[in-house]
Amino acid sequence: MNEPGSFGTTLRPGGLAGVLRAADAGKNVQLAGWVHRSRNLGGLVFVDLRDRAGLLQVSFNPEWTSDVTMAAASALGQEYVIRVGGEIAMRPAETTNSEMPTGDVELRATELTILSAAETPAIPVARGKNENLPSEDLRLRHRHLDLRRPELQHNIILRHRLQQATRRYLDERGFLEIETPILTKPTPEGARDYLVPSRVHRGEFYALPQSPQLYKQLLMVSGFDRYFQIARCFRDEDLRADRQPEFTQIDIEASFVTPEDIIDLTEGMLGALFQEAGISIPAKFRRMSYANAMERFGSDRPDLRFGLEIVDVTDAFRDADLAIAKSAIAAGGRIRGICIPGGAALSRKQVDEIEQIAKSAGAGGLLRVKKTGGKLDGPAARFLSESGERLLPIGEGELCLLVAATDATSNPALDRVRQEVAKRMGLIADGAVEMLWVTDFPLFGRDAVSGGLAAVHHPFTSPSPDDVARFDSEPDGVRALAYDVVMNGTELGGGSIRIHDPALQRRVLSALGISDDEAQSRFGFLLEALNAGAPPHGGIALGFDRIVMLLAGAASLRDVIAFPKTTAARALFEGAPSAVNAGDLDDLHLELRSANSD
Ligand code: AMO
Repeated sequence: MNEPGSFGTTLRPGGLAGVLRAADAGKNVQLAGWVHRSRNLGGLVFVDLRDRAGLLQVSFNPEWTSDVTMAAASALGQEYVIRVGGEIAMRPAETTNSEMPTGDVELRATELTILSAAETPAIPVARGKNENLPSEDLRLRHRHLDLRRPELQHNIILRHRLQQATRRYLDERGFLEIETPILTKPTPEGARDYLVPSRVHRGEFYALPQSPQLYKQLLMVSGFDRYFQIARCFRDEDLRADRQPEFTQIDIEASFVTPEDIIDLTEGMLGALFQEAGISIPAKFRRMSYANAMERFGSDRPDLRFGLEIVDVTDAFRDADLAIAKSAIAAGGRIRGICIPGGAALSRKQVDEIEQIAKSAGAGGLLRVKKTGGKLDGPAARFLSESGERLLPIGEGELCLLVAATDATSNPALDRVRQEVAKRMGLIADGAVEMLWVTDFPLFGRDAVSGGLAAVHHPFTSPSPDDVARFDSEPDGVRALAYDVVMNGTELGGGSIRIHDPALQRRVLSALGISDDEAQSRFGFLLEALNAGAPPHGGIALGFDRIVMLLAGAASLRDVIAFPKTTAARALFEGAPSAVNAGDLDDLHLELRSANSD
């Protein structure tokens, strides 16, 4: 095979159509690809030929093309696969196309072979400038055609490059790429498991891994010291634009490390990946404690591309004759919100729409106060006493949108309000990138249903040594040696130092309400390994699809995964999940209940 870039009679690996330029005029080339568009102009045929590298105009003209080939060229249909040969020539000046990178040249075809005919494509691959994309479901149904679109080609090729850059970066630093099982035991990462019934062991199931968490820890115990894997993970959870049921992590673990080691490594690696996509980011990222992030932004993954920090105005409302403020304060809540510069100019309708978003995130509503001409106005303003007015940090032209509630209610609502206002008011600069580490997470949260302790990350996360003493007396206050990395409000990854002391691991499992017996049956293999001389270790996992999505500027993970699932967790192209026949169910010792017995 020829070296990339050397033009001969063999095809160039990676395609050639998009890379030819004026400097290539006079070269004889062979190209193979798809008929993107073709135009038949009274005896002249122009074909835009598409290969992986892009588009090139191929011109068939009786001056240089034989009659037989002219006839074959006139009959070419969209998406036919052809091989053409001829000479690269400058286009006549009046026919150059400045919108195409190859628009100065054309291939003057002397040879044409039709390698495959094609039916009229079910969805257009070549689109007019103002032509909308067909619906996403239709595109997913015909994914083989949709993937031919230059945008998706670009995304998938970027994904490949980022994957190679990851491997290079980690390999150069002594990390070993080690695969871990897909048919395994449940790994608790907070989602439901996908289960696979065993045929040979009646009534027993494998789980697909939610992450390789336990295996990477076992590899540390086995002395591999530095591990990575570009690992497929499976989680049966509610899907959104940034979640897929199967997704890919850059999964990393190392022994004898501190959080700083993992943070440095991740910063360096993300820097290298961003560089691969032509984006530079600071060598060191900002940092914020979890408590600070929640207080100032209502979220543990704040978007720092804009301000709109949350302020606590409880004192301003303390003597206000306002029932919801009083009852919120009595219930241990506060009055917090954001004050929006220029927000006083928002229409009532706009603010009503923003309020709707706060309500859908669980808030009862928004208290509104605005300041124009030096005077406070808005429905909540008249309840403020004079001293209360003075305590409200509102500037001229500002609108404060406030939630009176406990933090558990107001944080998610204010987080959504903040994002919505930033979008509506155009506060996010094009191309802005804000990277952030969130640290000092609590080790435990509270289960929404039972009220019992639940792991904030996973149960193998080490408590901060400073807080181990408070473990029994004040478990809610125990911080974890955990860190998340956030870009523009999206959680790119998270990790921690792990527990390597078996006694402490048992204590944490027991605090989570996991009995010794259950701990033994679910995690006995880990506990056994920890008893065998476990090095201190820690790591991180980064959502690879999310990184590609952000670097490609794509709106959804589905645009950076070759064969993604819909938000209903279906694969529309191949048709999965699908029913299986009764015989297969029998082999697996399974029986379906009728729908109405569910
Ligand atoms: P965590 O559960 O935080 O940590 O996952 C790490 C990162 O994986 C990405 N991610 C997802 N991406 C797409 N679709 C999903 N459904 C999805 N779920 C998670 C996110 C997330 O930050 N074992 C630990 C890591 C560790 O402690 O080392 C873990 O899996 O970007």
